Amino acid sequence: MSAIEAQDLTRVFHVGDEEVRALDGLTVSLERGRLAAVIGPSGSGKSTLMALLGGLDTPSSGSISVYDQELNGMTPPDLAAYRRSTVGFVFQDFFLLSHLTAIENVEVPLKLAQVSRTERRERANELIELVGLGHRGDHRPQQLSGGERQRVAIARALANRPKLLLADEPTGNLDEKTGAAVTEILLNLNKDQDITVVLVTHNPELANQTEVQFRLGGGKLQQKTVASEELIVPPVIEPEIDMAQDQEPVEITQSTSVKVVILETGFCQAKATDIIHEVRPDLGLFDIPGILNDLPFIVLDEVEREKAEELKNRFEDADCVVELVSTSELK
Ligand SMILES: Nc1ncnc2c1ncn2[C@@H]1O[C@H](COP(=O)(O)OP(=O)(O)OP(=O)(O)O)[C@@H](O)[C@H]1O
Ligand SMILES: [Mg+2]
Repeated sequence: MSAIEAQDLTRVFHVGDEEVRALDGLTVSLERGRLAAVIGPSGSGKSTLMALLGGLDTPSSGSISVYDQELNGMTPPDLAAYRRSTVGFVFQDFFLLSHLTAIENVEVPLKLAQVSRTERRERANELIELVGLGHRGDHRPQQLSGGERQRVAIARALANRPKLLLADEPTGNLDEKTGAAVTEILLNLNKDQDITVVLVTHNPELANQTEVQFRLGGGKLQQKTVASEELIVPPVIEPEIDMAQDQEPVEITQSTSVKVVILETGFCQAKATDIIHEVRPDLGLFDIPGILNDLPFIVLDEVEREKAEELKNRFEDADCVVELVSTSELK
């Protein structure tokens, strides 16, 4: 049974008069439950492929099917539903919400999926344990090391039990040792969680430990390698840095304004970015992870509910799928 079937994918970007063929007739397929690496030089189309697989972008031509769902022809709300039901994302930058604890960060997608409070907490705790951070659940991102932050991001990506986990250079910002603990989790996921994992990496050691490797070049598939041997999983190396230990928790004071999460802008990124830039001076936004980086949600911190509603309407006028959640509801 295949997890991914992509046929003749082409994605052309127009920059001024220039035409950039980020993907140029790429055909790939991957069985369910596999762990695959996408490798290739900078600019070869790896992130573009991930965005298409994740329903964050649509191809100029060609077709994609993920777990028997044809992404072609899906409307933005369909794609949003697809992302929520099927895909988990992990990025090079962790994109955690700074005013929420590790546990609360993992709860965000569960809250959006309208999972009850008790169940949410239970699932978030279970996932934080899974990534080896049981002792760090109450810490905020700034009280965690880089590797720990990425592990929280993995736990968050797994919250709604995605079938496909997409990780774009998940260890790119981590040193070798810290990256090893993150790598170990990713390598074991498809065994433990019955999930298909596709990761982009420039690290040959990491790529060599995956079952399938897709090498891209110039937007085309140059080679598909399927490892015949058993997976070699490296030993767990605990990160050395333990920044959290001696730090006082940062007090976050609740103001009269509502902290709001606006979600699912993935498909209308460009428009959403324009809107954000336009309204930013009025709103005094300061926490907007991901808007320019393919994350399917953005966060407006300290925005009053009324203003957030206003903004929501503007996004919806631009065909974005938007949902408002007060992060105080996660407390
Ligand atoms: N939104 C965009 N507009 C214009 N060109 C783009 C856009 N996104 C990507 N490209 C171009 O498409 C090509 C492929 O980009 P992509 O980000 O997929 O490469 P990559 O393999 O992920 O590279 P890296 O290893 O540096 O992350 C590049 O030439 C890039 O400049
Ligand atoms: Mg990239």
